Amino acid sequence: MTKIIGIINNKGGVGKTTTTCQLSYMLRMAGKRVLLIDADSQKNSTGTFRAKSEGEATLYDCLLAPDKYRVDIEETIQHTKYMDIIAGDELLDDPSALSKDLQSGMLRLKNMIDNSSIRDNYDYVLIDTHPVTDMILYNVLMVATDVIIPVRAGTYEAEGIVKILKVIKEVKNSQNPDINIAGILFTDIDDRTNITLLGRTLVQEIADQEKDLDLKIFDTYIRRSVAVSESQAMRVPLFEYKKNSNASKDYEALLQECFGLDVDYSNAIGI
Ligand SMILES: Nc1ncnc2c1ncn2[C@@H]1O[C@H](COP(=O)(O)OP(=O)(O)OP(=O)(O)O)[C@@H](O)[C@H]1O
Ligand SMILES: [Mg+2]
Repeated sequence: MTKIIGIINNKGGVGKTTTTCQLSYMLRMAGKRVLLIDADSQKNSTGTFRAKSEGEATLYDCLLAPDKYRVDIEETIQHTKYMDIIAGDELLDDPSALSKDLQSGMLRLKNMIDNSSIRDNYDYVLIDTHPVTDMILYNVLMVATDVIIPVRAGTYEAEGIVKILKVIKEVKNSQNPDINIAGILFTDIDDRTNITLLGRTLVQEIADQEKDLDLKIFDTYIRRSVAVSESQAMRVPLFEYKKNSNASKDYEALLQECFGLDVDYSNAIGI
């Protein structure tokens, strides 16, 4: 069964895009068929893999465009040398078209995927999201089989997950009862920081209170590596830029912990 994984947190700058891109790349290296959907108007995942949002149909064109201009979701899939991608679009900033009819608006992405060959063609669909709780995020949560919640280790960031957990609970209690929280992932961790003293304890306390959500904190955490921002500045995937960076190794470990998969280096692209 295709896993559809939303990488979510309504806090900005916590590593959603970095995690989406690295996990997508690693899943490709594990020989899996991957579709990355960039549901963020900032288009960072789109840029990382050099997909295009100008002159190509994007997520906007299948999800939000006025009826007469709307295209089939399959027509928005771009085949890049790295993986298949549905590009983000600045126009995703205005999901008001979706909110007119709350119920059908929330389910539009799910209906589009259900009525396409996406589940036949891909093992994993990863969806990068923006740091806002709006109809686009609800669309992602309605279709997701799993979510990963990246979080920074600071106290305020850890406390911030209460908000996103509330949204997940709402979705679980309504239209998507099977949605699974694959795990909370600590990102951008300075090795000198004692994360057990900082965010981890707090998040663990929150997890203990949310028994019905069955919250797991990944043992793997992603260390801070300057290679992450360097690779983003050069618009190349981290693994291609520096496969031995701490963050590359940590995402490889996450692939094993989260999916039980190992990368096959002969599947690496561009290195
Ligand atoms: N492991 C890491 N090491 C160093 N820098 C990192 C690491 N992870 C993320 N960053 C940096 O932190 C910043 C935010 O990361 P990212 O863009 O992935 O977050 P985001 O949650 O997608 O942000 P937004 O909410 O704006 O979409 C980026 O500048 C990125 O380079
Ligand atoms: Mg992002």
